[in-house]
Amino acid sequence: MKIFNDFSLKRFNTFGLNYKCDAFIEVEFAEEIYSINKMFELDKARHLIIGEGSNILLTKDFEGIVIHPVFNNLKIKTVEKNSVLIEVEAGKNWNDLVQFAVNKNLWGIENLISIPGLVGAAPIQNIGAYGQEIKDVIETVQFFDFDDALFKVYEKEKCRFDYRSSIFKQELKNRVFITSIELNLSKEPKPILDYGNVKDELKKAEIINPTIEDMSNTIAKIRKSKLPSPEEIGNAGSFFKNPIIFSSKAEEIKKNYPDLPIFKTNNSYVKIPAAWLIEKIGYKGKTKGNVATYHKQPLVLINLGNATGEEILEFANEIIVKVKQVFDILLETEVNII
Ligand code: FAD
Ligand code: EPU
Repeated sequence: MKIFNDFSLKRFNTFGLNYKCDAFIEVEFAEEIYSINKMFELDKARHLIIGEGSNILLTKDFEGIVIHPVFNNLKIKTVEKNSVLIEVEAGKNWNDLVQFAVNKNLWGIENLISIPGLVGAAPIQNIGAYGQEIKDVIETVQFFDFDDALFKVYEKEKCRFDYRSSIFKQELKNRVFITSIELNLSKEPKPILDYGNVKDELKKAEIINPTIEDMSNTIAKIRKSKLPSPEEIGNAGSFFKNPIIFSSKAEEIKKNYPDLPIFKTNNSYVKIPAAWLIEKIGYKGKTKGNVATYHKQPLVLINLGNATGEEILEFANEIIVKVKQVFDILLETEVNII
């Protein structure tokens, strides 16, 4: 392990905010967390796990210890007729894993291309995009539980995956250090084409039976056209979750706003786009001081250069209040506020 004191987190949050932590520990082997926990009594001390910081908003210096996994092995565990089980450690870059699967023609995560972050964070909010979620391929999650200082393995059913949620973001929040995950990928082509303009883009390129590369390339291209790259503009992707509301409530809104897009879920609720709500309150591309909503996708809050975490949070709260006033819907943040 490597320990750095009084460490700047600027490179470890994609908003690019220059807050510090008391100590930053690079964990080189999963087993080290056991001695780190003993040494620093992390069950009592303030601690925070950071991968690439692409889903956090720091609002002040972190008075405590930040833990960052760098162990990143990938192991093929079993090969069946139609599927392959792989185990991947927490410190592996998520997109590198997707590229690996695409190169090996293993289906199941190709639509999750270009999502920033490390593998260890992927189960936390059950990352999802373009009709795929990690829960669809995850078999197990291995983690260290700070409360009883034990390594544990949860089968997917125990992880309570849901839209942008899991047991690790709820009951076990701040209690676990995810060390690796097992994914079951398919050798059989399973293109998922239903989301947004994926079909249209493939049609434009005259692709009828998309290969796994066609899928990942097309989605990477769509994402690039909509989302700002954190290397150029500080952001953490969607700042809010898409609200899930009663279908009767959506129908009521539709009376005044017939263009409300509605996405069915499998019960009496529907999902509606937070981007649409934010656009309707007049906040698409809106700037306030050093913060703005991105002009192509208002669900993404951006740092115009010199924003503080507090300014970003204040702007986010303003959006929450306005959306509540106009639509009586309470937006929930997707980003973890620290
Ligand atoms: P961090 O931001 O470092 O951490 C996120 C949370 O997980 C924190 O609470 C942290 O404490 C916890 N955590 C991290 N690692 C561990 C670990 N090993 N053990 C326990 N807890 C841990 N997300 C999507 O789902 N879909 C998208 O399409 C998407 N697009 C994005 C586009 C952009 C441009 C950006 C900037 C973000 C996007 N995101 C998206 C959000 C983000 O990329 C994911 O949530 C990603 O999984 C976060 O990974 P990370 O390593 O950066 O996690
Ligand atoms: N929309 C508008 N105005 C806009 C942009 C979008 O009204 O300016 C409406 C449109 O109706 C559009 C709908 O919002 O059809 C959905 O937009 P988009 O396809 O861009 O997706 P999103 O719902 O805004 C979600 C995820 C993204 C993920 C994409 C693709 C959440 C909170 N966000 O965004 O994830 O990449 O779908 O699947 O679920 C993230 O979590 O950080 C993230 C980027």
